[in-house]
Amino acid sequence: MSYSHAELRKHISRLPRYLLSHLPTPLEFVPRFSKAVGGPRIFVKRDDCTGLACGGNKARHNEFLIGDALHKDADILVWGAGVQSNNCRQTAAACAKAGLDCHLVLGRGGPARGPDIVQGNLLLDQLVGAQVDIVEEMIGPDLDRRIAEQAAKYRQAGRRPYMWENSVVKPLAAISYILCLIEVLEQAAEQGINPAAVYVSSAGSTGAGLALGKQALGFTGSVRNIAPIEWPYDTRADLAAIGNQAAKLIDIDTRLESSDIDITFDHIPPGYGKVSDGCLEAISLLARTEGILLDPTYTGKAMAGLIHDIRTGKIDRDASVVFIHTGGTPALFAYAEDLAQGIPMRKLV
Ligand SMILES: Cc1ncc(COP(=O)(O)O)c(C=O)c1O
Repeated sequence: MSYSHAELRKHISRLPRYLLSHLPTPLEFVPRFSKAVGGPRIFVKRDDCTGLACGGNKARHNEFLIGDALHKDADILVWGAGVQSNNCRQTAAACAKAGLDCHLVLGRGGPARGPDIVQGNLLLDQLVGAQVDIVEEMIGPDLDRRIAEQAAKYRQAGRRPYMWENSVVKPLAAISYILCLIEVLEQAAEQGINPAAVYVSSAGSTGAGLALGKQALGFTGSVRNIAPIEWPYDTRADLAAIGNQAAKLIDIDTRLESSDIDITFDHIPPGYGKVSDGCLEAISLLARTEGILLDPTYTGKAMAGLIHDIRTGKIDRDASVVFIHTGGTPALFAYAEDLAQGIPMRKLV
């Protein structure tokens, strides 16, 4: 069975939510970029413009996470990810707005070569008032353990911490991307297009929510995830499980199987958070044809994936395609050296 937009919105409206984002974000046709990649009509869903300390997908996620934290009477969030985490930057900003304290445990993911550059997301974490601890663990189970230890210390001290806990936060975050897909489909209808595909950078909640939304709404286009990272577990099964937990939270009958998740890991090399030639090409091409900034870890690689699919004939040249720009632009400044080397300055004369 499929649900109407209004029905799904009604189911979702029963959850606690704390409004943070500028919605709906624009759905913007990028004609010069579409022409430059010799492809279909490309529309960028500008989730880099969600507001909240430079925008991105986490503003949508956090509406449900902060809603849940306030509902559970938390007084501090204990969160964590990589040193240049967009998630942590937007979560810290959401805490500032909601009047909650925020303690970030950021994993360096290996011995540091030198001082951590207070730039990009790390700089913004500090500006919005989070306490930041940088640790050696990689993002994943090891860092999750450090976050849990920190939250336990707060609990012992009489505080009420809300912490990053995959089983709670991932399905809640996914729900926000069902709403994003509804927005996309409504805006596409207004602009007279029927997208053949929606592309996004994800190996987590964002993609799970879009996949669930596709199924629940009966959207016939594809939802293609370009993974920025490969987890040490079956990502298709994980996304389907997140989607199914989200479906239960909003009390709908839709269920996902691993085979419902369209994801490619081909654009991760040379590694998570490391720029590739395809990513540099995508960043430079979109910036120079449309003035839109992608980031080096997520959206640059996702756009490289879309360009690759166009060039290899996976997408019909007459089709319309939506690229969800999930943000991440503050990281550009932390990657200044890589970008300056990889994208030479233009010389007009
Ligand atoms: C800019 C950006 N895009 C995409 C993603 C992927 O989101 P998800 O974890 O929901 O897959 C992230 C995650 O941090 C991100 O920062």
